[in-house]
Amino acid sequence: MWNFPLIPDRASTIAGEVDAIYYFLTFISLFFGGIIVIGLLYSAIRYRKASKSSRANAVHDHLGLELAWSLIPLAISIGIFVWSSRVFINMHVAPKGAMEIYVVGKQWMWKIQHPQGNREINTLHVPVGKPVKLIMTSQDVIHSFYIPAFRIKQDVLPGRYTTQWFEATTPGEYHLFCAEYCGTSHSGMIGKVVVMEPAEYEQWLAGSGGGLAMTTSGQQVFQQFGCQTCHKQEAGQRGPSLEGLFGTQVKLANGQTVLADQDYIRESILNPSAKVVAGFQVLMPMYRTQLTQEQLNQLVEYVKSLGTTKRKEG
Ligand code: CUA
Repeated sequence: MWNFPLIPDRASTIAGEVDAIYYFLTFISLFFGGIIVIGLLYSAIRYRKASKSSRANAVHDHLGLELAWSLIPLAISIGIFVWSSRVFINMHVAPKGAMEIYVVGKQWMWKIQHPQGNREINTLHVPVGKPVKLIMTSQDVIHSFYIPAFRIKQDVLPGRYTTQWFEATTPGEYHLFCAEYCGTSHSGMIGKVVVMEPAEYEQWLAGSGGGLAMTTSGQQVFQQFGCQTCHKQEAGQRGPSLEGLFGTQVKLANGQTVLADQDYIRESILNPSAKVVAGFQVLMPMYRTQLTQEQLNQLVEYVKSLGTTKRKEG
């Protein structure tokens, strides 16, 4: 029974910060809860019906007291808000240059692909001491990618990407859970995270049959579906050029401007008429039913790899 830990291992850079908030909230709840229970018991005994204690001079209003019990909790709450917001933002904004790994959730497994092409199911190998960003989506229902030892958890949604990041601090194996009820075998949607020394991780990458890098697979999908016939680099093509597109602001036909991020590229592949680039017509077929989530991820990686430098505004 004592095999069941109250607090999981602490194996990421953020874990200590999350625990500090958790311990502080527990402490402050016990502290004020304790004061209230003691006051309650004291009054209940001292002023019980049979007691002869004097009830004269009962306090009916007391400005100082009311200000104290309003302002002190207010200050503490604002402090907790500011403190936890900082940790929350830190948890959600991955550092620049983080390694990006794609995760696809489905009933009932996690499918993972590393940029070098290596795929795995229900196991995630990562190097220690390196920020890792997970780019996640689901091919059916809502799941949630939860690594207790890293203190991170994020819903994984169909139809869009969500991300989270971590930096593992200690080599070892850790639990991976689905934390959103997603159907019959939700409880079986578990796996492990293997944190390795960087050199070991490189060995693992080389030795686990990586196959093609994601950008290369993406390029193959791109050609397989004939994307290059319209999306050429030269001017006057039927589709906008994809060179240097990623990360730029795109002018749309309706006058709006959008950021060309992962979600934009994904949406434009699945539903080309959702956001039409200014100067172009919707001639592109919808690829909603023809592409797997993995192929979509590979295409997104390929478009990303076409460069993130500022392109000339046409
Ligand atoms: Cu997937 Cu629960």
